[in-house]
Amino acid sequence: MIAPGSQSIYDQNRYIWNRRVLQGAAHTRMASEHDFQRPLQVVDPRGWLGKSVHGRRVLCLAAGGGLQSVLLASAGAEVTVVDLSPAMLEQDRRLAASRGLPLRLIEGSMDDLSMLGDACFDVVIQPVSTCYVPDIVRVYKEVARVIVASGLYLSQHKQPTSLQASAQPGPQGYTINEGYYRHEPLPPVLGGHEHRESGAVEFLHRWEQLIGSLCRSGFVIEDLQEPNYADPMAAAGTFQHRSQFIPPYVAIKARRSPASPDTTLSLFIRS
Ligand SMILES: C[S@@+](CC[C@H](N)C(=O)[O-])C[C@H]1O[C@@H](n2cnc3c(N)ncnc32)[C@H](O)[C@@H]1O
Repeated sequence: MIAPGSQSIYDQNRYIWNRRVLQGAAHTRMASEHDFQRPLQVVDPRGWLGKSVHGRRVLCLAAGGGLQSVLLASAGAEVTVVDLSPAMLEQDRRLAASRGLPLRLIEGSMDDLSMLGDACFDVVIQPVSTCYVPDIVRVYKEVARVIVASGLYLSQHKQPTSLQASAQPGPQGYTINEGYYRHEPLPPVLGGHEHRESGAVEFLHRWEQLIGSLCRSGFVIEDLQEPNYADPMAAAGTFQHRSQFIPPYVAIKARRSPASPDTTLSLFIRS
C-alpha cells in the first residue's frame, strides 16, 4: 500500500488519509446535524475552551475532515485549518460552503507553519496526529510561535505504550513488542488495527517528548486527561477491550506562557 511516486513519509501519509476519506474510514467523519446543535460539546467535551469561542482566532491543526473546523466556525470562531490531506480539507470546504460558514483552509504539514505569522491565534486545537511526524518538538515550536501569549493549546496524542503493544491479546494478554527509545518509524500495520492507521507511517513519541518538550517549548500544562474507552463487556481484541489495559490517547490542556523560554532564561540570568 505504498503511495505511487511516494518520496517521503509525508507523501505516504497524505496518500493514506486521502484514501481513508474515499473509504469512509475511522476519523474521517463530518459533523452531523445533531453535532451542530451542541458544537462546543462535540469539539471540547472537557469544557477546556470555556463557555464561548465567539470571535476567537482558532487554528485547527491537522484537523481536516469537516468536524472540528465547521463546528467551531458555527460557534462563532474565526477558523483556519492546516492539514496534509486535500481530501480531508475538501470535506471541510464542502460542509462549510453548504452552511455558509467562513473557513481558511491550508494544505501543509504541522511541523512547518511558515505560511502563518507569529502570534496570530488565540487557540490551537490538534486532534490525534503528532504520530505522523518524526519530530514533535518542531510541531510544538511552531505552535508556540503562532499562538498568542497566554493562548490555549489543546492537543491529543497516541500514548506510547499503545503504540508499543500488540493489537490482539495472546495467551499472556496484550504484549509490548516495540522498543521505547527509537528514531525509526513503527513497523507499518496492515488490516484491522483500531489504534493505528493501516499503511500510515507513524512514530512513537516518548512521555518526555510529549510532556517535557511541551513545557520546554514555552507551555504550561493546566490539565491532562486520558479519554476512557474501556468496556469490561467488550469482546477480546476489540478497541474497547484493549483499552481496559492500555489507554490509547492522552488529552493535554496547555497554555502559552506569557514569556518565551528564552526571555525567562535571560531574566533569570540577569537577576
Ligand atoms: C485523526 S485525523 C484528525 C482529524 C479528524 N477530523 C478527527 O477528528 O479525527 C488526523 C489528521 O492528521 C492529518 N495529518 C497527517 N499528517 C499530517 C501532517 N504532517 N501535517 C498536518 N496534518 C497531518 C491527516 O490528514 C488527518 O486529517
